[in-house]
Amino acid sequence: MRIVVTRRVPEAAMVVLREAGEVWVSGEDRPLSPDELREAVRGADAVVCMLHDRVDGAVADAAGPQLKVVANVAVGYDNIDVPALAERGVTVTNTPGVLTDATADLAFGLLLAVTRRIGEGERLLRSRTPWSFHLGFMLGSGLQGKTLGIVGLGQIGQAMAHRARAFGMRIVYSGRSRAKPEVESALHAEHLSFLELLRTADVVSLHCPLTPETRHLIDAEALGVMKHSAFLINTTRGPVVDEAALADGLLRREIAGAGLDVFEKEPEVEPRLLEMDNVVVTPHLGSATVETRTEMALLAARNVAAVLAGEGAVNEVRPDGDRS
Ligand code: GLV
Ligand code: GLV
Repeated sequence: MRIVVTRRVPEAAMVVLREAGEVWVSGEDRPLSPDELREAVRGADAVVCMLHDRVDGAVADAAGPQLKVVANVAVGYDNIDVPALAERGVTVTNTPGVLTDATADLAFGLLLAVTRRIGEGERLLRSRTPWSFHLGFMLGSGLQGKTLGIVGLGQIGQAMAHRARAFGMRIVYSGRSRAKPEVESALHAEHLSFLELLRTADVVSLHCPLTPETRHLIDAEALGVMKHSAFLINTTRGPVVDEAALADGLLRREIAGAGLDVFEKEPEVEPRLLEMDNVVVTPHLGSATVETRTEMALLAARNVAAVLAGEGAVNEVRPDGDRS
């Protein structure tokens, strides 16, 4: 069995993969180009890929009819054309669960950083600007009693809500479907329409997957509905936010600030956002802890091993879009 890995993965995962077949790992310290990807997968029974790899029917065809499984080392799988792969009999897997806490931690970190001006304060000191403590100096916004609006109350959204509850925030949420009553009551979370959420939240945090319905969910219109004092946090996928509209909205002070871990055209970032002190940016670090990245790679490797062994995948993504 030939297993193609598009970017280096932790050794723990390599051990599992080597037991399942002959492993080829890209030696590049960058994403493979689309041409390189099609070339690399030739003859593969399994592909372990990253969120920057676009895996569609053409890639599956380049691999050949023996391709059985594409294991994305990510919970999000908008980079994979799941229906096209399903048509070709290829199982797609993702890595839910293991990155929930790490991602919610980073989202909450961005929330604190932007509301308490941590990045701005850091830059002030590093620029050796003179300063002194005074009662009006670099004031931020408190969180206690404020409302967090969670768009998409899935696993990560719920983990974010738990953190916010500990900080004394009230939770409202919107999403395709209503959460279970026990989830709502544990979080004291109130379900609102998306518009109502935008209207009432002091912080809007995005935790929905990127789908055709959520692309540019936060656009000029949505920003116009948000409170002028509100903050936007995005740790899901960049294209859920219209980045140019966000820059426009921030310049017009339609909202107070943003904490962003993901971008529309990674690794690029809308340059105007980088000029703004009320924007905190991190380079797609949501799941970036040693523990979580190891778990993610291991889970992907176990998915490959299970499918190649003729067993069911641990985390199969179904073509109807439901996460297993
Ligand atoms: C990271 O962004 C993931 O989807 O796992
Ligand atoms: C703040 O630093 C305080 O001591 O109140």
